[in-house]
Amino acid sequence: MSIPIYTYDAIIVGAGLAGCAAARELQNAGKKVAVITKLHPLRSHSGAAQGGINAAFSDEDSVELHEFDTVKGSDYLADQDAVEFMCQKAPETIRWAEKMGAAFSRQENGKIAQRPFGGQSSPRACYAKDRTGLTLLQTVYEQADRVGVKFWDEWYAADIIYKDGKVSGVVAFNIRDMQMAIFNAKSVMFATGGYARAYKINSNAHANTGDGLSIVARHGLPLEDMEFVQFHPSGLSGNGVLISEAARGEGGRLFNSKGERFMEKYAPNALELASRDVVARAILNEIREGRGVGPRKDAVYLDVTHLGKDLIMERLPELRELAMTFLGLDMIKEPILISATAHYSMGGIPVDIDGHARLNNEDFIEGFYAAGECSCVSVHGANRLGANSVLEALLFGRFVGKTMVNDIENITLRPASQDDAARALQEVEFILNNNGDESVPSLRDELQHCMSDNAGAFRTKETLQIAVDKVKELRERFKNIRIKDKSKIFNTELQEAIEFGHMLDYSLFIVESAIAREESRGAHYREDFQERDDENFLKHTMAYMDEDGNIKLDYMDVVLGKHELKARNY
Ligand code: FUM
Repeated sequence: MSIPIYTYDAIIVGAGLAGCAAARELQNAGKKVAVITKLHPLRSHSGAAQGGINAAFSDEDSVELHEFDTVKGSDYLADQDAVEFMCQKAPETIRWAEKMGAAFSRQENGKIAQRPFGGQSSPRACYAKDRTGLTLLQTVYEQADRVGVKFWDEWYAADIIYKDGKVSGVVAFNIRDMQMAIFNAKSVMFATGGYARAYKINSNAHANTGDGLSIVARHGLPLEDMEFVQFHPSGLSGNGVLISEAARGEGGRLFNSKGERFMEKYAPNALELASRDVVARAILNEIREGRGVGPRKDAVYLDVTHLGKDLIMERLPELRELAMTFLGLDMIKEPILISATAHYSMGGIPVDIDGHARLNNEDFIEGFYAAGECSCVSVHGANRLGANSVLEALLFGRFVGKTMVNDIENITLRPASQDDAARALQEVEFILNNNGDESVPSLRDELQHCMSDNAGAFRTKETLQIAVDKVKELRERFKNIRIKDKSKIFNTELQEAIEFGHMLDYSLFIVESAIAREESRGAHYREDFQERDDENFLKHTMAYMDEDGNIKLDYMDVVLGKHELKARNY
């Protein structure tokens, strides 16, 4: 039976903030655009962003300070041209979102309210209570829908159509009935989200399996800076569900089992509002040294009781709800238990400021773009500042959409053929029909535990080598899986197996890139190389997978600028 081929000007994969914003730009400019998304757009992970979106527009703040904080936060690995672009366009992005209908929280005088976040010189995070991502996602999705973007909800993107340095479409299947389709287009953008679900305790949505990254990598295309995985300081103890930095931004304090406000030791000036990598490591260090709290002694206290009921109910209602639901603790009355949780991926598909995806250090792939967490532009370098990711997703999503509008005129459509679906069909057939004795949930559990134990916030050559060996072992065992559900109707077992295959591939990128980086920088902390080494490692990792599944490493220069390298203290 032949597979239907649909033709569009542009295909976007992923319907979070970046995907919806790009799609809206394209459709609004008269292009025919489709968004392929495995979830309904409003369930995208952008909706889980709680605390805010950065823009420097108060009298005390400036674009230059925003740039400086971002570059310092990145431990000087961010590309300064991209940071400059993002920080300059941030105020306009907020105004655009507001004009589109986003209801931000406000001060008494009617101006948009801004709260402090970690690593920032001034209160800079604009917010909508503690539901900022959801508010923005609802707005941008609504606008994309209003101008007529076609959303293919509950369609799973299985492959890109790639040949000779050019992308000309996507192969996807309908999750409802496994019907396969080929989406042929002049241009394709990935906005497929991050990869923190490689870790056992993480703040990411169940669907956030980072598929886009290994779909790209399996074609021999590069992934950049994959070793940099952010651990957010405050996940709920036990399950890692995000408790926004807004809690600390509004004045929340951290305490250990001795009642010590331990951040005084680690970051005497910024305290709980040091950058995320610093606070996360401090929390984990307190726990490692036996000063943890809770039944398993694997948490610390986050205390906001002194802020009072009115402020908590006005600005942090969602956080209170989460702590009551999952821990049975009411933050109005008592401290809650938190610890670090894998949260965000600084690495991803390498792109330039306009979103063009790289073929290598010098060349670009024709017709292929990325934005949001799956991309590496790189504005976050080795460590992202809180409230810069919602900004990045919305801003770059929008601007990459504009780039695509301009580029489309100069791209010739390469017609798709039935053969383009061969890889995706083969993958589905293998998973449906393989009759081994390994189960995907068990393998996934092993992977996540191994990554948390050996490639987490603290790493050494020895632990990373354990992780490399384990990922390779799991890849072999994956060849011997068996799923029980052989049907074609909403076969989530099949989908999870495909997703797990992706997790295995990009996990190998994380650990191979990490083992080669013999320094500590931002979120990548090597206990065997505790200092930043600018002489040897002020460079981006560019990693490629060969046909046998092995990772080859190369490096690319960092774009430096006016913010000079300094020791990073908070
Ligand atoms: O803590 C938070 O609200 C998370 C924000 C972010 O990751 O930018």
